[in-house]
Amino acid sequence: MNQGFLKLLLLFLFAVCSTAYAQDHNFNQSWLFLNEGAEGAEAINFDDSGWRNLDLPHDWAIEGPFDEKYNARCGGLPFYGTGWYRKHFKTPEGAEGKIVRIEFEGAMYDAHVWVNGEFVGRRPYGYIGFEFDISKQLKYNGDDNVVAVRLTPQNLSSRWYPGAGIYRNTWLKVDEPVHVAQWGTYITTPTVTDEKAAIQNETTIQNKTNQVVTVEIKHEYFSPDGKLAANISESLDIEANSSTVSGLFCYIDKPQRWDLETPNLYEAVTTITQNGKVVDTYKSRFGIRTISYTTEGFFLNGKPVKFKGVCLHHDNGALGAAVYRRADERKLQIMKAMGVNAIRTSHNPPSKELLELCDEMGIIVQDEAFDVWKLAKVENGYNVFFEEWAERDLKDMIRRDRNHPSIVMWSIGNEIIEQKLKQGGWRMAKMLNEYCKEIDPTRPTTAGFNNYPNPYDNNMAQQVDIAGMNYKPSKYSEVHENYPQLPVYGSETSSCTSSRGVYHLPIEKYKTHESKQVSSYDLIGPPWAYPPDIEFHFHEKNPHIMGEFIWTGFDYLGEPTPYGGKDNSTNGMWNADWPARSSYFGAVDLCGFPKDRFYLYQSQWTEEPMIHLLPHWNWKGMEGKTIPVYCYTNCDEAELFLNGKSLGKRVKGKDFTTLKVKFLRYEPEMFDSPYRLSWEVPYQEGSLKVLAYKNGKAILEKEMNTAGKPAKVSLSVDREEIDADGRDLAYITVRIEDKNGNLCPMANNLVNFELEGAGELIAVDNGNAATTEPFQASYRKAFSGMCLAIVKASKTAGKINFKASSKHLKSDEIIIQTK
Ligand code: GAL
Repeated sequence: MNQGFLKLLLLFLFAVCSTAYAQDHNFNQSWLFLNEGAEGAEAINFDDSGWRNLDLPHDWAIEGPFDEKYNARCGGLPFYGTGWYRKHFKTPEGAEGKIVRIEFEGAMYDAHVWVNGEFVGRRPYGYIGFEFDISKQLKYNGDDNVVAVRLTPQNLSSRWYPGAGIYRNTWLKVDEPVHVAQWGTYITTPTVTDEKAAIQNETTIQNKTNQVVTVEIKHEYFSPDGKLAANISESLDIEANSSTVSGLFCYIDKPQRWDLETPNLYEAVTTITQNGKVVDTYKSRFGIRTISYTTEGFFLNGKPVKFKGVCLHHDNGALGAAVYRRADERKLQIMKAMGVNAIRTSHNPPSKELLELCDEMGIIVQDEAFDVWKLAKVENGYNVFFEEWAERDLKDMIRRDRNHPSIVMWSIGNEIIEQKLKQGGWRMAKMLNEYCKEIDPTRPTTAGFNNYPNPYDNNMAQQVDIAGMNYKPSKYSEVHENYPQLPVYGSETSSCTSSRGVYHLPIEKYKTHESKQVSSYDLIGPPWAYPPDIEFHFHEKNPHIMGEFIWTGFDYLGEPTPYGGKDNSTNGMWNADWPARSSYFGAVDLCGFPKDRFYLYQSQWTEEPMIHLLPHWNWKGMEGKTIPVYCYTNCDEAELFLNGKSLGKRVKGKDFTTLKVKFLRYEPEMFDSPYRLSWEVPYQEGSLKVLAYKNGKAILEKEMNTAGKPAKVSLSVDREEIDADGRDLAYITVRIEDKNGNLCPMANNLVNFELEGAGELIAVDNGNAATTEPFQASYRKAFSGMCLAIVKASKTAGKINFKASSKHLKSDEIIIQTK
């Protein structure tokens, strides 16, 4: 054998031997599901032949049907009961002698897991991920294994729709006995300058052998453009059956910062080598940035940033709680278009996807752990698990999430009832704060307090680094005076309610309308709430306030306030206004269609000139009567024209509305809103046009025409090309238009859908919060002239032909390509 060939062969052999075994297998495919009690279904030989075959992530409750017997407060959907999932599988080849773990990123809730009939563990909190080592329970050599998961979500366990099922991704992870632990790297950047950034990497390495092992750990850091920016390594010993933490420190030159405009991300590739053999390769994404909180505000990379924030629940409307990366991405894109730069993950750990997207899109995150501690908000809530699980859940949330540059604070709770206690509440806050600091001392802690001044008087607010204020803008200055060192922000604000495209005249007060809709003049909310303008006003008066997180960016399932109050005849159910079953709080409806409020925030939060006009201009029967017309714009002034005739100019911040903003609270601060322009217009059908001026120049216009009779269905899709990965989505907007293409603002025509080709129609909606029409159907009525169809790509590339038709209307078709 010639020398060269021998060398090559050795090199090849070495390369093969050096390949780490570590493999993460996506474990979502082909589960069996039964949505009812199935006594003994954990048993290995249980007869599951009649069960439904499906892929995860899966939310069984979103399939419906809506029913009054379920709590409208939780969406009026069948989210409680017992759900069983079973999966038959063969252990991956070569896994014998390795460590095999099953990981669930989230299961709603109280998951109990068995492998081959043996109980391997439990995890009650539905919002946290967990894994179990199942190496011992598995059968190797090609024999059948079965994993069984029992979920038992309870009625009266949530204040909103929690979803039900294994609703996040699932993995089967095969590793060498020596490997990086779950969420095993913790990367921080203790000092950052333009010249260099210090990178500290604490990595937990597990040794599941019965011997002391010596390993080499190496980190390679790759810059956003994929170039090697730094590397470092060390050798260390790990005791038998234990773990150790390697702390390695190095510098990256000329760091490219993670910022809102340039969300640069680095990658750390960690390699563990044992006896010359690579036993694990572990990738972690991180960002280099600095954050600081002062009484002057929040600073990102030394620059002041105000939170233009939204609170978001985890559901994605008609898709329920099941994770779809594209659904989260679209949600965030719509929020960004509104001017949003910050998300509060009310009131629980979000999906991994949401955080990855915030990293990629340059959005700040407040990661929130709990809505409740020991004192209950609902009788079967997390309070029943708190004592035993809170420490684990909170620490796991931080371990899971602490490499995300987007996260800038940890929230230990929202409107916790313990605020009201004279004693005791602060001790729990102190304890939770310490848990956070133990796992991540680099970020501040916070909580959303709504019981001002209680949490300040009883020492609870002082336990977190930053006390968030829920719904107390008129107290910002007082808190600042009393606690001059405390950074202050609105952790939850406004809670204004509205239904897209619905206007009632005269404008009603809170909860008076038989339609179970809320007028969209953006003035109405429950007793603790107030219109967005109030918050804008107090932020102007208190420039040191770090910003706000409005309740909410998107409508969500459940909590149909102001409807759906407690119905005493039904034992704790909140069905008083059935079928009101989802929220009215969103600036955007459940479909992702902007309501008027979206534009009010956009007028405060964005620079690019914009203008918006409301209401619609179809008021047959109201001829000559006064219609209040609002214009939201970030320009200086605007002029309104009715059928070509000027109705005058209004100057922003100066010419107050002629319609008094009646329901603003916090007297004596009652004021006409300087954030809206308005006119009282005697109705006449035709064209209503507004012209916006900046520096005296007309730069933008918006025209609305009285729509004629519905004549056609009109389709548009968010993306004409999507991935053929079995998970990507196309969102199709359906409009009912007159013959000239004007939206018919009150149309409620029934639209039928047909789909052919490389996809599937998986959900429909119209944003109506008070209807029991199913989300999974091939038809939908329009609401305020619009509805939505959500199409999922199949795994085979091809064309999707999508058609929408409606009786007496011209139909429309659209083609989506999947690749
Ligand atoms: C808050 C609460 C939110 C939501 C909101 C509705 O008090 O923190 O979860 O219920 O009210 O206005």
